[in-house]
Amino acid sequence: MFDFFVNVVLFWTFMFLLALQAYNILFHKDVPNIRTAPAIRKKIIDLLKTDFEARKISPYTIVDLGSGNGLFTREIAQALPQARVIGIEITRQSVMWSNWRKRRAKINNLEYRRMDFLLYDFSEADAVVMYLVPRFMNSLGKKLHEEAKSGTLITSNKFSLGDGWVPEETMRIKTLYFHQGELRVYRKA
Ligand SMILES: C[S@@+](CC[C@H](N)C(=O)[O-])C[C@H]1O[C@@H](n2cnc3c(N)ncnc32)[C@H](O)[C@@H]1O
Repeated sequence: MFDFFVNVVLFWTFMFLLALQAYNILFHKDVPNIRTAPAIRKKIIDLLKTDFEARKISPYTIVDLGSGNGLFTREIAQALPQARVIGIEITRQSVMWSNWRKRRAKINNLEYRRMDFLLYDFSEADAVVMYLVPRFMNSLGKKLHEEAKSGTLITSNKFSLGDGWVPEETMRIKTLYFHQGELRVYRKA
């Protein structure tokens, strides 16, 4: 009886992981749609507020690369109502969901673009935030070197930007999400 129970649990765990993997491959370019941990989101929002107040740019444009279901972009837009927030996301369903949540929350300084972030032109951004996977970090590093304006603030949750970027600071942040805890902060020279 015990063996039967263990086998059933193992089988359904395996099926669940398989379905999750298939969902991520099919809809999220094989990037798991996992959100940035709350403590790290709070830290990034503090950094954005400080940068916005120091640089006094209008409109101060913040871009989330791979905005997923939009929670982080909504929080940023609500915390910085004077800023303009753009979520770039490849998955149609996530963009539809994000737009619906944005309308429900009556947020006016937030927009979503359904596109591949490797085709996005960074020259309009004053700050860029990302939580992605290592395979994008080189091409994004190169694109940011070529296109980002001088002074652009860039944060990356967990993974380092490639193409020679050196973080101004690497922060260790305590979070309940066991796989997260390091935030890298860069500044375009
Ligand atoms: C780990 S989630 C991050 C969600 C949110 N930015 C956060 O930090 O909480 C990454 C998102 O990137 C999206 N994504 C993956 N490849 C992409 C691409 N080439 N262009 C645009 N979005 C992409 C995935 O669909 C996924 O929703």
